[in-house]
Amino acid sequence: MSRIAVIGAQWGDEGKGKVVDFLAEGMDVVARYSGGPNAGHTVIINGTKYILHLIPSGILRKGTTCVMGNGMVVDPESLLEEMEQLRSLGVYIGENLLISESAHVIMPYHKKLDALNERVKGKKQIGTTLRGIGPAYSDKASRIGIRMCELLDRDVLREKLEFNLKLKNTLIEHFFGERGYSFDELYEKAISWGEELKPFIKNTTSFMKEAVSSGKSILYEGAQGTMLDIDHGTYPYVTSSNPTIGGISTGLGVPPTAVDQVVGVVKAYTTRVGGGPFPTEETGAIGDELRNKGGEYGATTGRPRRCGWLDLVALKYAAWVNGLNYIAVTKLDVLDGFDTIKVCVAYEIDGEITEEFPTNHVSFMKAKPVYKELPGWSGSVKGISDRNKLPKEAVNYVNFIAENMGVKVLLVSTGAERRETVVFE
Ligand code: GDP
Ligand code: IMO
Ligand code: MG
Repeated sequence: MSRIAVIGAQWGDEGKGKVVDFLAEGMDVVARYSGGPNAGHTVIINGTKYILHLIPSGILRKGTTCVMGNGMVVDPESLLEEMEQLRSLGVYIGENLLISESAHVIMPYHKKLDALNERVKGKKQIGTTLRGIGPAYSDKASRIGIRMCELLDRDVLREKLEFNLKLKNTLIEHFFGERGYSFDELYEKAISWGEELKPFIKNTTSFMKEAVSSGKSILYEGAQGTMLDIDHGTYPYVTSSNPTIGGISTGLGVPPTAVDQVVGVVKAYTTRVGGGPFPTEETGAIGDELRNKGGEYGATTGRPRRCGWLDLVALKYAAWVNGLNYIAVTKLDVLDGFDTIKVCVAYEIDGEITEEFPTNHVSFMKAKPVYKELPGWSGSVKGISDRNKLPKEAVNYVNFIAENMGVKVLLVSTGAERRETVVFE
């Protein structure tokens, strides 16, 4: 398993940070390929909590080079803050971090427009992280975005920023009736970001080519989750990038053959932040219990996460879309104490039962879960790292998920700490 992808199989926050950190031991390269500071990946090592937003979780491993790929959108302000935060916890950041020169820059007006777009959507708002993700990717698709390398070129930056500000200020001032941005202020800010980040801004496609060609071990760190994918997720309640497998090729400039194994991270139940359909959501006491036991509050925004039972229809779809070979099942300890555990095995849509995930979002909005009940276990799995110590029912639950998804179990996580992990394969 020298080149593995770790991808969220649900709606994000599956525990990818924990799994990436665990698997990153001894890895030469850990590379992020999509998303931006909308991600919040939590790693806990000996009681110290690290929350990674833009920087790959591999930064916590010595000897690992971390890459932020061209498929990402980078907010320099939040990146510099994250660097400072990590350094204050003793994390080394230097030549071990490379940022793609063609990654797009999230500018302050992107964050403003994210909030204004949400405001006009009213009840239909997506519930974005307000990090400017959608507007930055929109500019990329419109071919007007500013890329990291352009922060290093005063003339190009001037020309692009002038053009962009004309558009954005017209929208902000005349459509939304808010105050626009001063060119001078933004230009000076952007120049200073470029000066600070210059040592990190590189041709990462060339770095990845060399890494792949010379047989380096690589971990591709997914952000968000399959159901938040702009193409394969629950559009329009999605993010603006491709967290699924294809994002690795486009977001790092590596061929699909540069991925050997694909690990889907599966939380033992389901959570979702923000708006959008969620068939297995529990809005009553069970949802509260999962949220309290699982500490289900966003790592980026602190918002309470919506909680519910596992959705196998969505997980089987995630297994297909990503070509998963393995799953890493996280937060099994949160299901301690439930007499029975429900798993959604089919949807009822307009009176019809289906096990196929609907790609028509109008149908998906109407999906009602069809449940199978599995027995819970007595005692606690919290902190267990020896497979033989897991209760039989807990192993059965994990195997039931894997068998239905047609994958193998790589590991099970029984707590947030690095060591609270049971290796299966
Ligand atoms: P990510 O975005 O997929 O990396 O996940 P987040 O870090 O946003 O959310 C996962 C949360 O669950 C974090 O607070 C983790 O510290 C925590 N966590 C991860 N694995 C486990 C586990 O096995 N058990 C428990 N109780 N917490 C876990
Ligand atoms: P990690 O990597 C959970 C959700 C937002 C919102 C939608 C669009 O920590 O798993 P955006 O700001 O991307 O335009 O918001 O996507 N979202 C996430 N939910 N985990 C994430 O990342 C998320 N990143 C975005 O809540 O519903
Ligand atoms: Mg998260």
